[in-house]
Amino acid sequence: MALPQPALIADPMLPRSFTVTERVAETEDTFTIDLEPSDSGPDLSFAPGQFMMMYAYGVGEVPISISGDPSRPDTLTHTIRAVGAVTNALSELGVGDEIGIRGPYGVGWPMGRAEGGDVVVVAGGIGLAPVRPAIRQMLADRDEYRSVSIVYGSRTPDDLLYQDELHEWKARFDLNVQVTVDRDAPSWTGDVGVVTPLINRLDFDPGHTIAIVCGPEIMMRVVAKDLRSRGVPSSDIYVSLERNMKCAVGFCGHCQFGSAFLCKDGPVVPYATVADRLAMEQL
Ligand SMILES: Cc1cc2nc3c(=O)[nH]c(=O)nc-3n(C[C@H](O)[C@H](O)[C@H](O)COP(=O)(O)OP(=O)(O)OC[C@H]3O[C@@H](n4cnc5c(N)ncnc54)[C@H](O)[C@@H]3O)c2cc1C
Ligand code: FES
Repeated sequence: MALPQPALIADPMLPRSFTVTERVAETEDTFTIDLEPSDSGPDLSFAPGQFMMMYAYGVGEVPISISGDPSRPDTLTHTIRAVGAVTNALSELGVGDEIGIRGPYGVGWPMGRAEGGDVVVVAGGIGLAPVRPAIRQMLADRDEYRSVSIVYGSRTPDDLLYQDELHEWKARFDLNVQVTVDRDAPSWTGDVGVVTPLINRLDFDPGHTIAIVCGPEIMMRVVAKDLRSRGVPSSDIYVSLERNMKCAVGFCGHCQFGSAFLCKDGPVVPYATVADRLAMEQL
């Protein structure tokens, strides 16, 4: 299936103006914004796992994954952690403010390959944002997949994203949802610790499983090792890699990872193709 391509084919570097229609504070430093085109141009369809370049006017541009619903191309949703100049500028946006957007870019999660088999989603911290469109798509087409399991870990209970949606997912009988936190809190009655012991609770057929893994690189390495020890081939484990990006269209080389340019060959890649490089301490 052809991936959605940047809406402005004429000049893929030219941002299009979008207006903020909703802003939700997820945690102390992380927020979700909904955007709609400020012009009367086309909606933006996207594949789960793709990202956009978001331009805070006068400050700069950053790559941010799309965290919304692929069946709603009229609304673009992003979940952003404020860590520096541009993301802090984006965090100050309110309803009615405008920003520049270009994309969607990159290769997303292997939704087609996942059909007909079991799916294990493992996310850490803000890594739940890039996998949420994949989860939404699987829930919309639930009959196309066998078991679907979600393992999610965050630093503290207050750092958990999409808390209402997590409760909804947990309440479903056709999803196995496991959540853990690194550090306990008085109100927390769930699991404490890393995500890997929770993976061992999951029931899946390793020869017919696609794993979707997103989070800090150390977490992705440990999770991939664990899944491989359960019999899932590296070629069926997919990870999303974050690297410095500038052009996002394969021109500048900032995102080079081995022979791949992650802006167009990724950010989602089979673990088998990056395992050796991810094992190196410094790249
Ligand atoms: C394909 C892709 C998808 C991404 N998706 C998302 C997303 O959905 N949501 C999101 O919040 N971010 C996402 N990011 C990361 C985001 O692009 C960076 O956080 C952003 O570029 C930082 O820019 P800045 O100008 O705000 O910070 P800078 O001024 O560039 O950095 C300020 C400080 O923050 C540190 N820093 C930079 N990035 C991070 C980070 N990711 N985590 C912790 N510290 C960091 C830097 O080392 C520096 O010390 C994605 C990155 C890529 C490549
Ligand atoms: S960001 Fe320029 S080549 Fe990938």
